[in-house]
Amino acid sequence: MAKAWTPSSWQSFPAAQQPEWPDSGALDRALKQISGYPPLVFAGEARSLQTALGHVASGNAFLLQAGDCAESFEDFSAVNIREKLRVILQMAVVLTYSLGVPVVKVGRIAGQFAKPRSSPFERIGDLELPSFRGHIVNAEAPTAAARVPDPDRLVQAYHQSASTLNLVRAFAKGGFADLNRVHAWTQEFVASSPEGRKYEQLAAEIDRALRFMRACGVDTESNSRLHEVDFFTSHEALLLGYEEALTRQDSLTGGWYDCSAHMLWIGERTRNLDGAHIEFLRGVGNPVGCKVGPTTDPEYVLELCQALNPARIPGRLTLISRMGANHVEDKLRPLLRAVRDAGHPVVWACDPMHANTYTAVSGHKTRDFDEICSEIAGFVRAHSAEGTWPGGIHVELTGDDVTECVGGADKILDSQLDDRYQTVCDPRLNGRQSLDLAFRVADLIRTNGLA
Ligand code: PEP
Ligand code: CO
Repeated sequence: MAKAWTPSSWQSFPAAQQPEWPDSGALDRALKQISGYPPLVFAGEARSLQTALGHVASGNAFLLQAGDCAESFEDFSAVNIREKLRVILQMAVVLTYSLGVPVVKVGRIAGQFAKPRSSPFERIGDLELPSFRGHIVNAEAPTAAARVPDPDRLVQAYHQSASTLNLVRAFAKGGFADLNRVHAWTQEFVASSPEGRKYEQLAAEIDRALRFMRACGVDTESNSRLHEVDFFTSHEALLLGYEEALTRQDSLTGGWYDCSAHMLWIGERTRNLDGAHIEFLRGVGNPVGCKVGPTTDPEYVLELCQALNPARIPGRLTLISRMGANHVEDKLRPLLRAVRDAGHPVVWACDPMHANTYTAVSGHKTRDFDEICSEIAGFVRAHSAEGTWPGGIHVELTGDDVTECVGGADKILDSQLDDRYQTVCDPRLNGRQSLDLAFRVADLIRTNGLA
């Protein structure tokens, strides 16, 4: 029998991956300040997302969760946010049109700052330095001073999340996401590419469909569904002090919600069943996710479902599989079977990025576009074989023309990674690779007879 939950009950459990803040007084002051700030999202919005994810769990919608590995304090501008939104909207249009189901759009944005690390220290040249943990904690410069955790960064992360969310809300509801602008979402560097042309064709078909509806007398002008989108935010709930400071009681239902984002997830390194991260997220009413990597077995997954979604609410729990392109089918099928047979209504999403990362000869951390596609292909085949729904993808991308992942239609080579390698953490798909991926995902689901 689980003990009573409170927003601070996680504190009596082992919390992995927490920074060692040198000044606990300063940390307390920063958290107290944040706990007095307004919530970033509202409980009702988190419930709407949960309802939408419930449709994904039942096979009637698709989840597109995408954005930065780590948002940056430096690379923070309206243009940057707009470009990310643009590529996500494009991908969503491709998926909606091709799969014929609603696409639930969730950004890794407006709060995706904190990073877990495989080691607390890293060696750079002759120096052994504390690892970079994301701009919410320290800076990436290779000096001891830059790597000291600074609690003022928690406050700065809150403010950056608030202004990012403000712009995201404006873009989603203020005309930018209008389906009549479907052509305008193509970035210049994508427009002339084969994916860009394929997208243009699809956009032209959507235009025709809209004209057809108007000709039939359907009032497309006043239907807000055609002019606005619902766009939700998410991040890994890693720094539990920060998450606790933004956890508020909903006046409508009396339930607790982590108002730092609509959806929160637990990472591969912090998903210990007896750990603080599961303790914290089990008590909040938001939809939650958990990464499941190649060491996961069916017993663990069932315990996880029980811990995070004992009431079996559809849309409450998303399991984000990140197995690696070579293992995904074998590793995933037993998990799909166990969850299906136990009757847990989960969303299954595929993160094809994190188990396919390697260090290239150039020294850059990278991922191969073909491997990413291949993991998604295995994910879809596994679902097809088990009669379950491949509910979504979870990817790291940017709208910009970066060179961080090798391959894709541009055939980015290891030797070109240095040209525009801009991520502060993991390598992201660029705008072209992202759009290409959306077309491939749609094809994979259709050719496996699932849509
Ligand atoms: C991430 O999503 O950026 C991440 C660190 O993933 P994982 O926990 O799956 O390694
Ligand atoms: Co990452």
